[in-house]
Amino acid sequence: MDIRIEELKDVNVIPMDLLMLADPSEEMIRDYLPYSVGFAAYEADTMVGALLMMRTRPRTMEIMNISVLETHQNQGIGRQLIGRAVEKARLLRARVLEIYTGNPGALQMLLYQKCGFRIVGVDLDYCRIHYDETLMDNGIECRDMIRMKMDL
Ligand SMILES: CC(C)(COP(=O)(O)OP(=O)(O)OC[C@H]1O[C@@H](n2cnc3c(N)ncnc32)[C@H](O)[C@@H]1OP(=O)(O)O)[C@@H](O)C(=O)NCCC(=O)NCCS
Repeated sequence: MDIRIEELKDVNVIPMDLLMLADPSEEMIRDYLPYSVGFAAYEADTMVGALLMMRTRPRTMEIMNISVLETHQNQGIGRQLIGRAVEKARLLRARVLEIYTGNPGALQMLLYQKCGFRIVGVDLDYCRIHYDETLMDNGIECRDMIRMKMDL
């Protein structure tokens, strides 16, 4: 599989369905989309993955969304997207890169640690507070957010 990662000039080209694999709230996605730097992974002309990241505080950026089509998961695309995000955050002179994942996201946490992120905290009840509906994943409620960060 030949995958190409491109920085996007227009993040609005990312299909909402793809972004909603990582974030079930279209409303929340529409909040951060206009402020985000975006990358897309393409196989030939088909977008198979995407990453959005934005500046949240001086010298701090956060990966807001990382999504890979189910058919293309576990083939190294997420890792490549994160690699590009790290490069870009450094270019933009950020010192810290953050990413959040829900408590059921054990595989995501493995990937993020392999990419250099460390667990720095837990936002208890974040999902209950910020989402209208109960989020379920792997048969358990996605209730808390695990905060992870990497010093750049
Ligand atoms: C999370 C996600 C972006 C990862 O992208 P990906 O392209 O599948 O990930 P990669 O192939 O680059 O990384 C795979 C890594 O994940 C972990 N992993 C994935 N599946 C695994 C499994 N069944 N067992 C163990 N580890 C696994 C491993 O750490 C693996 O590392 P390795 O390559 O050293 O084996 C993708 O699975 C996805 O879009 N999921 C749905 C949306 C989502 O959950 N987004 C994140 C919200 S926080």
